[in-house]
Amino acid sequence: MAAALSATVYIADSSFIRLKHCMNTPPNLARLRDFVQALAALLEHQPAEPDIIAQGSALLARLVAHDDWLPDAYSQPNPQHYQQYLLHADALERFSVVSFVWGPGQFTPIHNHTVWGLIGVLRGAELEQPFARTADGRWLAQGAPHRLLAGQVHAVSPTVGDVHRVSNAMERDASISIHVYGANIGAVQRSVFLEDGTRKPFVSGYSNTSLPNLWDRSAELNAQLKAATPTTPTTRP
Ligand SMILES: [Fe+2]
Repeated sequence: MAAALSATVYIADSSFIRLKHCMNTPPNLARLRDFVQALAALLEHQPAEPDIIAQGSALLARLVAHDDWLPDAYSQPNPQHYQQYLLHADALERFSVVSFVWGPGQFTPIHNHTVWGLIGVLRGAELEQPFARTADGRWLAQGAPHRLLAGQVHAVSPTVGDVHRVSNAMERDASISIHVYGANIGAVQRSVFLEDGTRKPFVSGYSNTSLPNLWDRSAELNAQLKAATPTTPTTRP
């Protein structure tokens, strides 16, 4: 019997202004820092998975509503295969945040996650095709693929539907999505599947060896200091 799969798509609040990435301005990493802090605070209360998905999706929708914060180093496609850049891993490995960068025509194999996951499209568009297992162990596409546009968020998990294939919906351009998982996804044993039911275990790696520095807040704090420091008028005798 096929597992019941459901799709949840959250759309970023239209009140947010979608800012375009600008090569000439430094990335606004405060958005990513605010996101990881808010998600850590949410998980601190050990909420049930439906609450994590609902509230975490709202946080991710806020993050991907703006396209002005992802550093260029973590947005580069590879002509051979999609890239998975680690942006942040929680110290207790309760969650991880990655940027998936897809070149034209690139796609994942059919795979699972084993933990909750949130997909927020930052740039371009993606196709997310859920799969369900048949009684004889094969995997069949279930329904039409979901087309996820920039600003939209989709959830996966063993309870809401965990097996899918994701591809870049853009024929000529790269697409970027921000994925959040309920573990350090680089340390989770998962599976890829062939449609005939063949299973191959794997642990996904990361494409980067260094992380964006979210924690240098000196510019913001120095600006506050400067604003709070009274200027002494220069007087001449
Ligand atoms: Fe996935």
